[in-house]
Amino acid sequence: MYRRLDPERMPHHVSIIMDGNGRWAGRRSLRRFLGHQQGAEAVQYVVETASRIGLPWLTLYAFSLENNLKRPRTEVNFLMRLLKSYLTNNVKRMNDNNVRIRYIGRTAELPEEVRERMHWAEDATRKNTGTTLTLALNYGARSELVDAFRALSREVQHKGLRLEDIDEAEIHRHLYTSYMPDPDLLIRTSGEMRVSNFLLWQIAYTEIFVTDRLWPDFRGIHMLEAIEDYQRRERRYGGLSDGTESDDVESLPTNQLVAGR
Ligand code: FPP
Repeated sequence: MYRRLDPERMPHHVSIIMDGNGRWAGRRSLRRFLGHQQGAEAVQYVVETASRIGLPWLTLYAFSLENNLKRPRTEVNFLMRLLKSYLTNNVKRMNDNNVRIRYIGRTAELPEEVRERMHWAEDATRKNTGTTLTLALNYGARSELVDAFRALSREVQHKGLRLEDIDEAEIHRHLYTSYMPDPDLLIRTSGEMRVSNFLLWQIAYTEIFVTDRLWPDFRGIHMLEAIEDYQRRERRYGGLSDGTESDDVESLPTNQLVAGR
């Protein structure tokens, strides 16, 4: 499969909305938490594939602000315990695979013992130069924008930042994702056609790939299939395809600009 990919057109950044753990469990008459547990296994398979193909950036939506606010406390607590044990059990494998781990989101609001584990894993993998795995935790794209606007306003008030100097690059510098390029490809599992408040600013020109496969069944090979699909697409960033000749609209009389009814 990997050999089918064009090395010249590999994405630099793949982001994934991991969805369907609950449905995966429900279809097997299992409790939801078992779906999350299988989901955590799937994370490590995909991370290792990313490292093997030399993908520089992989960003996973692991826990949203909305999950935190709207799910039963028992489920949230289970997800927190799962995250801690995922980190504890996988740092060695991350080091073996040259994977660095980082986080985005309102992580300061997570429980103290989870934050400690997160810092520990971040520190232990800091020197790795392969794939940077970013986990979005207690993350919401709109709150990320709120945080960026607040930070920018503080700089206007106290550090002499001029309004005319606020441009797209300046906003990018104030996002949680300032250290990475925008995603080239966004994958969503379990079939829903939504972006669910994930990286809204950053996905302006991102290619989207939705699969019906539920996250616990997702493996590296499925990410490679998504990349293969991505490579067949033409990215235009609002421009025209290469070689497309523009119509000579300037010479058209104005009354011909709208097609006759
Ligand atoms: C969606 O399943 C998934 C999540 C709530 C977050 C993803 C969490 C994991 C993959 C496990 C833990 C991750 C790490 C990094 C240890 P859902 O419950 O919304 O599924 P449903 O829509 O079928 O109910």
